[in-house]
Amino acid sequence: MVRASAKHASATARLLLICIALLGIALLADFFWASSPHFSSWAPHEDKRQPTLLFPDPRIPTQGKTQSHKNETLSGRILSATFADLPAPKLKWEKMAPAPVPRLDGAAIQIKDLLYVFAGYGTIDLVHSHVDIYNFTDNTWRGRFEMPKEMAHSHLGMVTDGRYIYVVTGQYGPQCRGPTAHTFVLDTKTKKWSDLPPLPIPRYAPATQLWRGRLHVMGGSKENRHTPAIEHWSLAVKDGKALDKEWRNEIPIPRGGPHRACVVVDDRLYAIGGQEGDFMAKPGSPIFKCSRRNEIVYSDVYMLDDEMKWKVLPPMPKPDSHIEFAWVIVNNSIVLVGGTTEKHPVTKKMVLVGEIFQFNLNKLEWSVIGKLPFRVKTTLVGFWDGWLYFTSGQRDKGPDNPSPKKVIGEGETR
Ligand SMILES: *[C@@H]1O[C@H](CO)[C@@H](O)[C@H](O)[C@H]1NC(C)=O
Ligand SMILES: *[C@@H]1O[C@H](CO)[C@@H](O)[C@H](O)[C@H]1NC(C)=O
Ligand SMILES: *[C@@H]1O[C@H](CO)[C@@H](O)[C@H](O)[C@H]1NC(C)=O
Repeated sequence: MVRASAKHASATARLLLICIALLGIALLADFFWASSPHFSSWAPHEDKRQPTLLFPDPRIPTQGKTQSHKNETLSGRILSATFADLPAPKLKWEKMAPAPVPRLDGAAIQIKDLLYVFAGYGTIDLVHSHVDIYNFTDNTWRGRFEMPKEMAHSHLGMVTDGRYIYVVTGQYGPQCRGPTAHTFVLDTKTKKWSDLPPLPIPRYAPATQLWRGRLHVMGGSKENRHTPAIEHWSLAVKDGKALDKEWRNEIPIPRGGPHRACVVVDDRLYAIGGQEGDFMAKPGSPIFKCSRRNEIVYSDVYMLDDEMKWKVLPPMPKPDSHIEFAWVIVNNSIVLVGGTTEKHPVTKKMVLVGEIFQFNLNKLEWSVIGKLPFRVKTTLVGFWDGWLYFTSGQRDKGPDNPSPKKVIGEGETR
């Protein structure tokens, strides 16, 4: 279907040989709903690796706004669980080597043909403290190494200059424990870690980027994991070293909160989607047990350029959060994969996202360019040799049920 339609695409609208591959899925239990998760796995399908023309399908209209479903809920009509799904072209996916461990809310950085995958929850009570490396060229996971003991295990801010990976703040420990302000640099050539000045105040999942020689960190949640923060700091860095002793205050972000995509293209910084509010530790719980709180998910797009004033750009086709490491830059566009959108208005269940979005930076236009094999949040994305990859995260319960699945992961076939 995608291929056929692409024949009619105009030459300029054509992006050849974008193929989609599915990199080892290591998926996680719905920690926040299941008390004793165990793991199973997504069943592979046997498609041969075939080039698939992906961008853009001229028949897919750019979606303007999120649909409103208020009327249905008020009138008592039953609202489909999949109400938030948008029409999207089907794509061919191939299952790649499975990730060594299941992982949720980890982080990933691509440098050339390697995807460095960090930290994350293995279960709600177990967090990873190591790095796994996927090689796109030979489809292998190799070269596991340890993280510093003091480094956060989830909700990190992370960015690379092509050799050094800057690792900022995040949640320290399992369940809904507190954050750490510790900040590190990894030299990917030597696999050596060093310290950077700690963030002024710890954050959960802040938007993080390198821009004009400075490491920028903004938004995220405050120390209670729920309250959105709007502060924005920067630190001059070069070749893995801080050039400043302290973080500098910068223009606050118009809307705070965690789990956005933050991308720099062509000297402009973009902050996309995200949410206000998040799970919090249950008051008095000795294990900081996660409990759900209200969340509002946004489709907002903000941009900083040399005026150093936030500009508002066209919003995403629908609100989308949990996309901090779910994006790549392809041909002057930002491609975003999966996420979470607004909760179901009746059941209040979390609704995962199964579309791939593209933000064309020439036209400042959004489009929906494809469908994932399932809906998935906080997935980790890479792009290599014309193929889009994703790994890890938390998937849906099935095609008709977009809420997070209780029991998934890897190890056995479902
Ligand atoms: C990006 O665009 C260029 C110029 O239109 C095209 O030659 C190239 O194939 C595109 N890249 C990919 C990965 O398709
Ligand atoms: C809901 O119903 C009211 C009254 O019929 C109408 O004016 C409004 O446009 C509807 N809203 C949506 C989002 O459909
Ligand atoms: C990835 O694998 C290929 C094939 O084995 C190898 O040639 C390449 O050097 C690897 N990449 C890195 C960065 O190690």
